Parts: sequence; C-alpha cells; structure tokens
Amino acid sequence: MDKKTRVAVIFGGQSTEHEVSRVSAESVIRNINRDKFEVVMIGITKEGKWLRFNGPVEKLGSGEWEQIALEESLAARQKCILDQSLAGSGSQNVLAEAASARSIFNAAGVGEDNGQGIDVVFPVLHGSNGEDGTIQGLFELAGIPYVGPGVLASAVGMDKAYTKIVFEKEGIPQGKYLVFNRKALKANVDDVVSKVEGTLTYPCFVKPSNSGSSVGVGKARNRQELIDTMVEAAKYDRKLLVEEFIDGREVECAVLGNDEPIASTVGEVVPCNEFYDYKAKYIDNNSRITIPADLPESTIKEIRDYAVRAFKSLDCAGLSRVDFFVHKGSGNVYINEINTLPGFTSISMYPKLWEASGIPYDELIERLIDLAVERFNDKTL
Ligand SMILES: Nc1ncnc2c1ncn2[C@@H]1O[C@H](COP(=O)(O)OP(=O)(O)O)[C@@H](O)[C@H]1O
Ligand SMILES: [Mg+2]
Repeated sequence: MDKKTRVAVIFGGQSTEHEVSRVSAESVIRNINRDKFEVVMIGITKEGKWLRFNGPVEKLGSGEWEQIALEESLAARQKCILDQSLAGSGSQNVLAEAASARSIFNAAGVGEDNGQGIDVVFPVLHGSNGEDGTIQGLFELAGIPYVGPGVLASAVGMDKAYTKIVFEKEGIPQGKYLVFNRKALKANVDDVVSKVEGTLTYPCFVKPSNSGSSVGVGKARNRQELIDTMVEAAKYDRKLLVEEFIDGREVECAVLGNDEPIASTVGEVVPCNEFYDYKAKYIDNNSRITIPADLPESTIKEIRDYAVRAFKSLDCAGLSRVDFFVHKGSGNVYINEINTLPGFTSISMYPKLWEASGIPYDELIERLIDLAVERFNDKTL
C-alpha cells in the first residue's frame, strides 16, 4: 500500500478568529480520509505559543486541547530547546516563536527525507498571522507545500485597501471608497471629514484595512458617527477605509483550484443585525444562510464570473471565498472582499457551497491537499 500523506493541520492563532479556527480544524481533522492521510496537529495559542497536540480531537473545538498539549512532554522539551538557543539573546517573542515553529516542524519530521516528514501543511487559520501571508512565508522557508494562497495573494487579500486597487484594475465593480492613515486622522480630523463628505454621502461604512470578523467595522450616519467610527477603526490598523454604503443583499461564492479555478453556486447571508457585524457572525446565532441564493440566473452567473476573476487577479491558489453585495434597488453586483482562508467548519459557507455544487466535505479536503502539492511542484520545477 502507498505511504499515507502526512498532513500538518495548524489551528488557533493570535487573531480574533482563534475560536472559529479551532472549530474549523476539528471539522477538517474529523473528516479527513484516514486511509490516505495521517494527521499531525499543531496548535497556536492566543499568546502565540506553538504546541504539538496528539489528541483527542474532540478537545479541539472546546479549547481543552491547550492544557493537554502543554502538559505533554514534547512541549516541555521544546521549551528547553528554546531556552538554550535563545537564552540571553534578548530576542523578541516573534523570533522565539519562529524557532519554536521550526523545532515543532523538526520534531514532527518536517523536511526529513526518511519517510517521516510532513508532506503538506493545512493552515486552518484565519485573520492576521494566519491568512495574511506571514505564516505562508514560514512554509516557504521550510520548503513545505501548503493549502491555500501564497504569500502575495494572502497579504493582498488581507489588506482591503490594496485588494480594491487590484479589483479596480481587473474591472470588477465596487463601491466608491477613500483610504486614510491613522496619522492623518490624528493630525487633522476636519480635513479627513471634509474629504469624505466631498466624495460620499451618509451613511457610509468605516473599517480597518487589515482586519476580519467585522472587528472595527462601523456604519456612520452623520459627521459625529463618522469621527467615532474612524477613531474605533484606527484602533485595529494604521490604515482605514471609508466606503460608500451599499444597500445590498450579501452573497458569497466559493472558488477552488489553482491556475484554472472553478466557482461554486452562490449563497446568501441574511444577517440578524443591521449589518453582518461580529455579534451577528459569532454570538447571536440568528443569521441565516440560503444556498443557492434566490437570484436571477444571470446575476448568479455574473457573480461566479467575478469570483473567478477576483481569485485570478490576486494570483490565489487552492481556495478563496469571494463576497459581494447585490444592490436591492438596481440588482447591480458589487464586490466586497475576498477571504483567502475562509471559515471551514462543516456548516461554514465555503464547504456548504461546494457540497451544494457536488463536492462533499471530505473530497474538498482531499482536493485542497492535492492542489497544495500541485502548486508547490509548479513553483519548484
Ligand atoms: N460598503 C458597505 N456597504 C454596506 N455594508 C457593508 C459595507 N462594508 C461592509 N458592510 C457590512 O459589514 C460587514 C463586514 O464588513 P467586511 O468588509 O466584510 O469585513 P470583514 O472582513 O470583517 O468581514 C459586511 O458583511 C456587511 O454586512
Ligand atoms: Mg466580510
């Protein structure tokens, strides 16, 4: 029998999406085909500590994994290696964590040509340090194939202001927007406000350029709210966006592939709050998902077409979920954003869209792993 592919599933992380990442990872690990794949679990705590976890997988979603992993001797040994290699160097935490990552990879046999090494990494991470190209850079350095877009696509996809430049170049319709630096806001708020008022009308949307889960996103109905929401958004990023409000239905499309990606059917999210804010996403649990979205066939086609173009314009790989608004009055489609490592729990939009399009969850995981290897070979050959 062929040797099983060793897949390292990395979960957790320091972003606001730590919890959802754990639930996504538990789904992936439970559904991965064990006849073909052997799983190595690596968790990143909210403090940024990397820990090898040997199970049981049921302790993952709840967060109990962390204590178990901490208590295991491997963690203690890694700490020892770290202490020795970094003692007295005054290195920053991030260096320690990079060393820790390497020691975990080494302990797991990454890069070893003895049949014990990790073959592919599946980063089931969302948000900063997981979805933004930083960890992808580590995988590049380690020379391991990984699921999902590379460094460039991940970094661009995480930065909403930059993504808009790329979408604009690609000719995908999007709402009007302005970009400001936190410093400009602090230096002259009146100037910023008059620039906004010169271009947009109220209400408008304010958001940090690099963020996720709607953290720091706010709707401003007047000048005072504009200032308040900008100050709030500036807590999360040095770059902020002010956007035209689009009174639209929120629809999402899943993309899968490398150079010739395919688009799924389209799903609709009906938020239980005024907009799809953090509470509506993770706390209130009353937001609804409809697959397929009840939209004219021509609109569905347009969305799928834009989704593939968005994916290609960023040079994505593996997967991405592309989110749009369909204007309630005109029916026009506007792109909102791209998520390069979307939520992956068994009830998340991305896998649900593929399930509805004929690719069940376990097969989706397998395809993503194959795509990771394909992209790696394409880069290295
Ligand atoms: N320009 C806009 N017009 C209307 N609603 C918006 C606009 N921008 C964001 N929203 C609302 O805020 C939510 C979060 O914004 P989004 O840009 O998707 O950030 P995140 O990356 O945090 O999901 C959206 O799902 C939508 O409900
Ligand atoms: Mg969003």
